Amino acid sequence: MARKIIFDTDPGVDDAMALLFVLNSPEIEIIGLTTIFGNSNVDATTRNALNLLDFAGRSDIPVAKGANVPLVIAPHPTGEFVHGDDAMGNIGWQHLNNPNVHEVDQHAAQFIVEQVMSQPGEITLVPVGPLTNIALALQLEPRIAKKVKEVVMMGGSVLHAGNVSPLAEANIHNDPHAAALVFRAEWPITMAGLDVTEMVQMNAAYFDELAAGSNRFGQFIRQIVAYYQQFHLDWYGMPNGEVHTHDPSAIAYLIDPSIYVGHQWPIMVATDGPAIGATIADRRLRFWKSPKVNCLMQVDGKRLLDLYRTRIRA
Ligand code: BDR
Ligand code: CA
Repeated sequence: MARKIIFDTDPGVDDAMALLFVLNSPEIEIIGLTTIFGNSNVDATTRNALNLLDFAGRSDIPVAKGANVPLVIAPHPTGEFVHGDDAMGNIGWQHLNNPNVHEVDQHAAQFIVEQVMSQPGEITLVPVGPLTNIALALQLEPRIAKKVKEVVMMGGSVLHAGNVSPLAEANIHNDPHAAALVFRAEWPITMAGLDVTEMVQMNAAYFDELAAGSNRFGQFIRQIVAYYQQFHLDWYGMPNGEVHTHDPSAIAYLIDPSIYVGHQWPIMVATDGPAIGATIADRRLRFWKSPKVNCLMQVDGKRLLDLYRTRIRA
């Protein structure tokens, strides 16, 4: 039986790459998309979510709009400089492509609570943006911690340098207080952070392979990724059209966890000072009593890239 997930997302170029990966993977059934600010404001990420589902012919999947601001801190600028003005690589997605599709009339946090409580033990939450919706759902109904099957998230970093500050990864940095609540809850969490996502790179030749044979998903990915490639060249000096494999990594773990090696460490999140947004792991298992997180620390990059190619081209 397919594993049911709620995909909490801020599309976002790599969010779109992850979503198309899920939609072509029979092991996973998306029961809903919840949207969050991050790569753009929540109106834009919701529009992108609806447009992506319309493009994929999957407008049957409900979309619930979530938070537009973090729990406590003042919002940081959203991520258009990485993902383009439309957060979809400047392909001109300023409006809904199909005026007949709409988000559901329920806040993302409420949607999460209702779905998890009505299907105990069945739903995996897969957040690949700031953790605000997940934290709001926990505040609304703390019992969801015992009712979800698992949380598999993209964000954070144990040993790898940060990508928005010396220590912080963007999703956690955008709402550190939400992340702190999520890591304090007693539920099984896997964290696909920069330790693994920056170790796998897709390059220009790989995107050509995805698009070969007029593959529709592959051609779309090659189109939206151009702006993201330019960012990776400008920011990291990656010369061959390489991009980091962030959000698709959470999906790869769901499909085949044996691609990764994880370590069970408690995580605390810095909520102020120069380390704000850092996910600090107690690697000696000595100092903190908070729940252990499955921190992914090694990845078989070839297997991940092979899996992604196979699924997108299916
Ligand atoms: C994360 O930040 C966003 O820009 C990406 O979509 C990804 O979820 C990487 O740090
Ligand atoms: Ca994202």
